[in-house]
Amino acid sequence: MGTEELIVEAPASIANLGPAFDVAALAVNPPSDVVKVKVSEGDGIVIRNYGEYASSLPSEGHGNSAHLVAAKAIEQAGLRRRIEVELLKRIKPASGLGSSGATSAAVAYALNRLLNLGLGDWDLVELASYGELASAGVRHMDNVAASLLGGLVLVNPIVRRVTRVSFPELSIVVVIEGSKPNTGFMRSILPKAYELSDVVANMANVAQLVASVLMNDLDLFSRVITNDRVAMPYRVKVYEHWGVVKSILEKHGALGVILSGAGPSIAGFFKEEPPINEIKGELAKAGLSPMVILTKPSNEGVREVNHY
Ligand code: HSE
Repeated sequence: MGTEELIVEAPASIANLGPAFDVAALAVNPPSDVVKVKVSEGDGIVIRNYGEYASSLPSEGHGNSAHLVAAKAIEQAGLRRRIEVELLKRIKPASGLGSSGATSAAVAYALNRLLNLGLGDWDLVELASYGELASAGVRHMDNVAASLLGGLVLVNPIVRRVTRVSFPELSIVVVIEGSKPNTGFMRSILPKAYELSDVVANMANVAQLVASVLMNDLDLFSRVITNDRVAMPYRVKVYEHWGVVKSILEKHGALGVILSGAGPSIAGFFKEEPPINEIKGELAKAGLSPMVILTKPSNEGVREVNHY
C-alpha cells in the first residue's frame, strides 16, 4: 500500500448539560480541532502537535489522546501499519470543552476510514473513548459522541447505543477562567452513592431536558438545565469564579448557566446573541480575566476537510 491520509475537523463539546452527567453532550463550534492522519506501511505511532496549545500536550504514550486511539485502532485492525497524526490543537486543553474528546473523535473517524474498520456509530464512540483515558482515567463517552455526531447526543453503554438529536439555534457564551485540577480529580470528588430522591430528581430533569430540546420548549429547557444534584453542586465549589460568572450571565438573560463538563468552563445559553463586550467588561470589573467564547450548537459532527 502507499500512504493514505485524511484531514478531519471535530467540534468542541459541552458535556453533561446540567443534570445529564456522563449521558448527554452538545457539540459546539467554534472551537474545533483538526487532525491530519496518515497511514503507511511499517510500524509505530507518531503524534505531532501544532497550534497555540501544542506545547501543553504530551506527544506520546498514555498521556496523549490521539496516541491511545491510534493504538486501539491498530489493535482492532490486526494489521502492521505506521500511523502519523498531525494535530492542530485549537480547543484549549483541560478547559471543559471536550478538547481531548474532539481530538479522539477526529482520529477515530479518520482511522475507521483509513484502516477500513467498518465501525458504526456506537463502535466509533467506543474507539474514540479510549482517548479519554489520558485526561479522565475513564472512558466517558459523552464528549467524543458529540464531537463525532454533532447536535445533542445521549450515550448509553448499557444498551450500547448513541442517540443524536438536533439542537435549537441558541447562542452560547463560554467563560473559561483558570484551570481545572484534571477531569480524573473532578470525578473523584463526586459522591460514590446518592439519595434516592436525588436520583429521581435527576431522572426527571434529564427526561425533560431532552423533551425540551425535541419540542423546542425553551421555558422548560431553562427550568431543568440548571437543576443537577449529581455533579455540579460538588464541582462548583472548586471554582471560586462560579457564582459571579453565573450572576453576570443571568443578568444578561441567560436561559441557563451550567458548568461545562468538569469545568472550569462555564456555559450560558441565550435565545439571542448577548452583548459580549458588556459581559467581558463586567467580568473584568469583577476581577476576572477569562477567555470568553461566543459560540453556537453545531448540528454537524466530524467532517473531512481539504486543508488545515
Ligand atoms: N461527563 C464527564 C465529566 C465530562 O463530567 O466528568 C468531562 O469532560
